Amino acid sequence: MTGTRRALVVDDDAAILEVLGMRLQALGFDVTATGDPARALAAADATRFDVALLDLRMEPMDGVALMEALHARQARLPVLIMTAHGTIQTAVEAVRRGAFDYLTKPFVPDELQTKIARALATRRWARDRARLLTVGQTLASSGVMARVLDAVAQAAVEATEAERCVVFQVEQGRLVPMASAGSPAPAWEALEAAATAAMDKGVPIARAAAEGRTVVAAPLIVRRGPAGALVIEAPARVEPDEDDLELLALFSAQAAVAIHTTHELERLRSGALAALGRMATQVAHELKNPLAGLRLYARHLEQRLARSGDAGAAELAGKIGATVDHLAAVVGGITAFGRPPELSRAPVAVAALVDECLDLARARHPREDVEIVRAHDAACPAARLDARELRKAFLNLIVNGLEALGPGGRLAVATAWEPASRTLVVTVEDDGLGMNDETLARAFDLFFTTKPEGTGLGMAIARSVVERHGGTLAVQSRPGRGTRVTVRLPAEGAA
Ligand SMILES: Nc1ncnc2c1ncn2[C@@H]1O[C@H](COP(=O)(O)OP(=O)(O)OP(=O)(O)O)[C@@H](O)[C@H]1O
Ligand SMILES: [Mg+2]
Repeated sequence: MTGTRRALVVDDDAAILEVLGMRLQALGFDVTATGDPARALAAADATRFDVALLDLRMEPMDGVALMEALHARQARLPVLIMTAHGTIQTAVEAVRRGAFDYLTKPFVPDELQTKIARALATRRWARDRARLLTVGQTLASSGVMARVLDAVAQAAVEATEAERCVVFQVEQGRLVPMASAGSPAPAWEALEAAATAAMDKGVPIARAAAEGRTVVAAPLIVRRGPAGALVIEAPARVEPDEDDLELLALFSAQAAVAIHTTHELERLRSGALAALGRMATQVAHELKNPLAGLRLYARHLEQRLARSGDAGAAELAGKIGATVDHLAAVVGGITAFGRPPELSRAPVAVAALVDECLDLARARHPREDVEIVRAHDAACPAARLDARELRKAFLNLIVNGLEALGPGGRLAVATAWEPASRTLVVTVEDDGLGMNDETLARAFDLFFTTKPEGTGLGMAIARSVVERHGGTLAVQSRPGRGTRVTVRLPAEGAA
């Protein structure tokens, strides 16, 4: 890691090359001077330059064409175009095509120094500003941690010209890649090792990797200590300098904020949910007995009216009964949600359980006009799960899927086994209605429903069941396209 700036000078006039080389060296630059555009491009493949000075008129490739070829390699390289016959036209054209500025020969003593200084300062400023803007916008526009981390990773790659960036987070004592940008990593070990080292040290670190690459890692510090690390891998020609380390620390701070916010939100939400659950359970308990009475009276009334031959009144009484049934179902749901029973685990074959839920759901929502597809992974081992509770979860998800389908729609339910993480994955996917952002954001809220007959408890119950199993439930949805719910369950006690 060096603080030396590198300058590239290309001119077919050997005398100019020599003079410029000396001047730039005097300004503290490490100078590559050549008259050959091909050699200049080869140099740009091997090292990262901080500034380039190119002669406008050269053979076979003129300065502007060379600039464009250089920019294809280093997008933000500031280029100063030099011309002996400076006209406004050529200058404007060069700047329009991406030059930072132009210099007229012969050089005015201070002009060179001023323009170079400005190019360097502006470059850094523009680069940081653009990156911070995207990260800031993402932070402001969404609280979804994954999206923020993706933006941070992307920004880190662009700002440092790294090949790739991976954001690791510690989950249950293990480093898990949460977001990445750039080209996919051929191997994780080096990145993981750097992440661990940065977290141990508590500051950004750089280390050499295979094939002359460099890996730089910055820890993500949240209040509880390191929560993960942001790691970039740079190709051999890019040597991360002090600016890059500083930038990386900045990005890792942004990522840490996103993680911290998400933790806080989760903590608040689970606290609020617990309190709400307790209150709802008490109310539900108070309602249960009167509702059971009401239902009985409505049945009696319906039978009596039917016997007396008043069909219209009997129908009304029937409707009262049905409404009371609905209320009883809501109350039953609240009780189940507010006071979840201890899990009672026993070996369960998840495919059979899912099939059973599909049959139940179809019995409840008989529809001939939809297609139901199931795909089971025979590798799924039996695991110790609470079948009764999970039945509620899967049933709710499948019913939601069926309810979302239009005529000719398709519901796909699949089970899969991930041996590496020992996880059972169940996906329920429909190509129906889908959800807009607002519905998606509220789908797990208690009593949130967009259905006339809905109770708005299904998703909340499903997630609570899955989370009590130590699993996760994720939803992806697009309005008009459909919804995919992915349930991941750790396979406890599986052989
Ligand atoms: N597969 C899906 N496709 C489209 N929207 C969905 C899907 N699943 C859930 N939703 C949306 O989320 C809301 C909440 O779902 P949830 O299952 O909690 O309640 P509900 O289905 O409305 O009522 P119920 O308590 O009867 O299940 C739904 O009203 C619907 O707007
Ligand atoms: Mg539902």
